Amino acid sequence: MTAAEAESLLDLACEVAVAAGRLLIGSGGRPEVVATKSSPTDVVTEADQAAEALIRGLIGEKRPGDRILGEEGGETGDGTGGPGGLSDVRWIVDPLDGTVNYLYGLPDWAVSVAAEVDGTVVAGAVFVPRRDELYSARLGHGAWLSSGALDWRGEDTGSPVRLACNRDVPLAQALVATGFGYAAGRRQVQGDVLRAVLPRVRDIRRGGSAAVDLCSVASGTVDAYYERGVNLWDIAAGGLIAAEAGAQVTGLQGRPPSPSMTLAAPPPLLGELHDLLASTDPERDA
Ligand code: IPD
Ligand code: CA
Ligand code: CA
Repeated sequence: MTAAEAESLLDLACEVAVAAGRLLIGSGGRPEVVATKSSPTDVVTEADQAAEALIRGLIGEKRPGDRILGEEGGETGDGTGGPGGLSDVRWIVDPLDGTVNYLYGLPDWAVSVAAEVDGTVVAGAVFVPRRDELYSARLGHGAWLSSGALDWRGEDTGSPVRLACNRDVPLAQALVATGFGYAAGRRQVQGDVLRAVLPRVRDIRRGGSAAVDLCSVASGTVDAYYERGVNLWDIAAGGLIAAEAGAQVTGLQGRPPSPSMTLAAPPPLLGELHDLLASTDPERDA
């Protein structure tokens, strides 16, 4: 893949994330819950579905041969049939990350769109409409924050700021973001893990959107993040953004980030957090 191709994937990720964000912010009032997933509190609203449909439509118009993995619609497309023949691009989409925040009118929810080529995420965009913040990254080219994207029409979004994680923060001084799953048995263990972590860090934040948490590691509004139970669509774009800002994004014991456990922080904080978490045997459910 050439630099120009990767750049055009990033442009499309930004464009569709902003379009979906505009749709979501424009639908006023409390959205209707249309289904539940893993538990009665794991909800899907009309807004999640409408945002994913919009994203699928926009990507499909410009790149009809690509596969799309979306939280609501699963994986579609077989990587064939595009104008250029075979496509090795897969889009990974969470149309609304932080649905519970959205439902309650809290500001931290996001649209997350990543482009993966041959299994590697090469471009990612996380748009946080209520803050009008567009986080983006291209593999090897840093992580960036642009404001004013709500009025963006596909040209320059203004002066993007290059993001860098906070450096040299010891664990005892670290502000650590985390999240909890929807199932009671998982939460019970997550509570036990939290009991071990809380006395060892500055404080904990539970923001309500894994994608925003990872962007917060990138921008330095938190120092680190860990969570068990996230899916690929929660972390694909935000993970690249955090990594391009200097974080290591990993699992436990040298494994890659996964639903089992995902950590993000710059070294050496990552190592300290890793060892503390590993000592709690966190990859289990009650
Ligand atoms: C959730 C959010 C939350 C995290 C959960 C995710 P959703 O995504 O990212 O912060 O703790 O693990 O499932 O359901 O709002 O798209
Ligand atoms: Ca999510
Ligand atoms: Ca979601």
